[in-house]
Amino acid sequence: MAILFTGIKQLLTFAGDNAPRAGAAMRETGLVKNAAVLVEKGIIVAAGPRASVSRHSLAKKARKVEVNGVCLPGFVDSHTHMVFAEPRLKDFSMRTAGASYQDIKAAGGGIISSIGAVRAQGGKAMAAQVAARAARFLECGTTTAEVKSGYGLSLESELKMLRAVRDARDFTPLELIPTLLAAHSVPPEFKGDAQAYLDYVMAEILPKAAAEKLAVFADIFCEKGYFTPEQTTVYLKEAARLGLRPKVHSEQLSNYGGTRAGAAAGAVSADHADHVFAEDIAAMRDAGTIATLLPASNYYLGLSKYPPAREIISEGVPVALATDFNPGTCPCWNMQFVLSAACTHCGMTPEEALCAATVNGAWALGIGDRVGSVVPGMQADLAFYDAEDYRELCYYFGASQTLLTVKKGRVVHPRF
Ligand code: NIG
Ligand code: FE
Repeated sequence: MAILFTGIKQLLTFAGDNAPRAGAAMRETGLVKNAAVLVEKGIIVAAGPRASVSRHSLAKKARKVEVNGVCLPGFVDSHTHMVFAEPRLKDFSMRTAGASYQDIKAAGGGIISSIGAVRAQGGKAMAAQVAARAARFLECGTTTAEVKSGYGLSLESELKMLRAVRDARDFTPLELIPTLLAAHSVPPEFKGDAQAYLDYVMAEILPKAAAEKLAVFADIFCEKGYFTPEQTTVYLKEAARLGLRPKVHSEQLSNYGGTRAGAAAGAVSADHADHVFAEDIAAMRDAGTIATLLPASNYYLGLSKYPPAREIISEGVPVALATDFNPGTCPCWNMQFVLSAACTHCGMTPEEALCAATVNGAWALGIGDRVGSVVPGMQADLAFYDAEDYRELCYYFGASQTLLTVKKGRVVHPRF
């Protein structure tokens, strides 16, 4: 049966080009006041002014849901590390006592300290944990999330993580898009030999993940003490050859060249971008790479430096926003907090931030032709918020304002 959502004080459709939005186009929200959205069979049939949507032939018999709030496309969180066995509370205590990311790594914390529990965990328990976390994302209005592996760092455990993402789909309506991040750090067995480990990843893990179709993307952490820009380009080109689309963690802790290395391999997105310079931004623009900013991680790490969103936007590079939800540098699943951090600390306008969290997030996952905007023919992934004005989503912070989350035309929060 069709559903007619009415009582929408403001609807942001993000109607526009079938492409990532850059520059001034990031501020075009497609705002409609006093709106309605009609959905049938999981697809948006009509969206716009209430009076015209109500005249649609399917509207009369549709189930009516009066929402009394603001409607947006469901958030597309294009960067998460949602699969991990345990929170890293020891790292957290060290950080609160003044230790930096590098201090924590040197003391045996950081990414490597997550692998023991992940390797020991059974696949079923892992899938159940992912599904339980997915419920938290849905509560906050996220309808699609990318999920990276990267805390196993062996053939068996990396594939186990990706299979857990696949299997979690039976237990959650959150759409999960898997990314192989075997090149996240060098596991202890390789005794600091990053090249030997990367050779192993390319010979063993990449081909098997690709053959079993366990991942859509391949990602690598390009940073001093992890993997070099040269290794990044070679690895991502090999991933692309095997059918995995490249992504890169780059310029997070220093300007090291990962963004340019990723762009050279045709990366769909370069993520973090805290320390990008003009030549990195130009490389993204020329390669059509999206800059995915993760300011909630800067907040959590207590950094005063945030990614230079204004410069990136003014140079014409499309910007996406994502949580970076992970146990080490960002224990936050709420995209509404990310909106606040982006506006308050990166100088993004509410319009740009909302575009970055929806339509551009979808393009950072290569699915912008199907999700991320509220126009007829798109998947009915919607979220409704307790607000009069869409800017309240970026203004209030610290709690979720979500009233209702709809995935493929079905209400999945709060009733799921
Ligand atoms: O995006 N930079 C590398 N990866 C994660 C951190 C993962 C961790 O510390 O567990 C990030 O910040
Ligand atoms: Fe990350």
